[in-house]
Amino acid sequence: MHSLSAKNLTLGYGENIIIDDLDIKIPKGEITVFIGGNGCGKSTLLRSMARLLKPKNGSILLYGDEIAKMKTKEIAQKLAILPQSPVSPEGLTVYELVKQGRHPYRSLMKKWSKEDEEAVTRALQSTNMLHLKDRAVDSLSGGQRQRAWISLTLAQETDVILLDEPTTYLDMTHQIEILDLLFDLNEQKGHTIVMVLHDLNLASRYAHHIVAVKDKKVYAQGKPEDIITCQLVHDVFQMKCNISCDPIFGTPVCVPHGKGRSIASL
Ligand SMILES: Nc1ncnc2c1ncn2[C@@H]1O[C@H](COP(=O)(O)OP(=O)(O)O)[C@@H](O)[C@H]1O
Ligand SMILES: [Mg+2]
Repeated sequence: MHSLSAKNLTLGYGENIIIDDLDIKIPKGEITVFIGGNGCGKSTLLRSMARLLKPKNGSILLYGDEIAKMKTKEIAQKLAILPQSPVSPEGLTVYELVKQGRHPYRSLMKKWSKEDEEAVTRALQSTNMLHLKDRAVDSLSGGQRQRAWISLTLAQETDVILLDEPTTYLDMTHQIEILDLLFDLNEQKGHTIVMVLHDLNLASRYAHHIVAVKDKKVYAQGKPEDIITCQLVHDVFQMKCNISCDPIFGTPVCVPHGKGRSIASL
């Protein structure tokens, strides 16, 4: 069974259709990355999969159940989403932020429990944020802040984690730090991870499965080594490129053409 799938999915805002009659299957226990040009609908698609946006047509299934018919808490116990560029209230501490991840397990009758506290501590430990738990989120560096938000999604203890551009605005070291963290969560704990990334080379290196979105549809989906081609980059990003093989990982590496100070001819 797929952890998450969409059938005949049409999404849009008002009259504006963004995703049209799309079918998608997210493999369980794998890392899936959505790629595509700016404004092609990656965030729209991700948000709909967390039921933050109601489809105009079609359905989304989470472990075979239609999310449209599920209770919000039930979805939140199975799926967590980290939106693009999240903002926390001024002065909120890391601990207070991560505590919110336990919301799906709370009720009016149920007090903050030992399990809640342990889940928060585990989440902070796995992102190496425990020592920063009393710091205000808005006082942290970009990489630390992103780790705080990821801790929030981990405290939710869901199998499926959706992340919209978790590495944007981070320097190279911190991009790799976040992607390594997500890689370990997938390898060691079997989380199904779905994320939007802009860097095709990092997407090819970390993803088991890539979904390329173009013209309201899935242009291609599959293993990076099977689908990342010059033709795909040309059609999806309108860019000529060379594709070679990463000398360390063996995964596809895309070198875009365009201008530059060339000391070799293409
Ligand atoms: N809340 C909204 N209301 C109206 N239009 C939106 C809204 N959010 C996104 N859009 C539009 O939907 C299209 C897809 O946006 P988005 O899903 O954010 O693209 P991506 O994440 O691929 O860059 C864009 O044209 C954008 O302007
Ligand atoms: Mg987006």
